[in-house]
Amino acid sequence: MSSKNSQLREKSPSESHAEVIVRMFPSDANPAGNVFGGEILKHIDMVAGIVAQRHSQSNAVTVSMDSVNFLKPVFVGNVLKLNARINYVHNSSMEIEVKAEAEDIVTGIRTLTGTAFVTFVALDKNGKPTHVPKLALKTDEDRTKFEEGKLRMEKRLKKRQK
Ligand SMILES: CC(C)(COP(=O)(O)OP(=O)(O)OC[C@H]1O[C@@H](n2cnc3c(N)ncnc32)[C@H](O)[C@@H]1OP(=O)(O)O)[C@@H](O)C(=O)NCCC(=O)NCCS
Repeated sequence: MSSKNSQLREKSPSESHAEVIVRMFPSDANPAGNVFGGEILKHIDMVAGIVAQRHSQSNAVTVSMDSVNFLKPVFVGNVLKLNARINYVHNSSMEIEVKAEAEDIVTGIRTLTGTAFVTFVALDKNGKPTHVPKLALKTDEDRTKFEEGKLRMEKRLKKRQK
């Protein structure tokens, strides 16, 4: 693996935090008329990728998506707000947590509609996994999420098929 972790500056989760807001159109719908889950997954992957690349400052690819929960439907016309933060890093891997909230723009009502964990791996210019900066854990939330992320990553890797 390229680049020594110790040479990289530690970065806090807030430095890479990302929020994406997108309007849902009829072209985003499933045959029943609500927003297609795959469309939401695309946005989850995209916002998580922004966080992973901000943190690693390198190319980063999705290796796993898990605990994807669609809690409530998202309707055509809703504004979908995706919030993403980095919870945990190991050598080249990063766990990103995404929360999706739908806003009815007329009533102003906002609903948590989905959650997911996405794992990215940072790659060097040769496409090989490369070290990412360690996380500077500044708040109690950062520390809790790091420990929870570590446990989830251990479980994830146990289930991993090569
Ligand atoms: C990313 C990739 C190059 C890693 O190759 P690999 O042979 O699995 O590499 P390694 O076994 O050395 O693992 C590298 C890191 O990825 C992590 N990793 C790999 N698969 C994982 C998974 N399913 N879940 C969580 N972490 C995973 C490893 O734990 C390791 O993390 P660490 O460096 O922090 O310890 C390879 O899996 C790949 O190219 N995948 C396709 C990625 C892609 O194209 N995504 C877009 C959507 S298809």
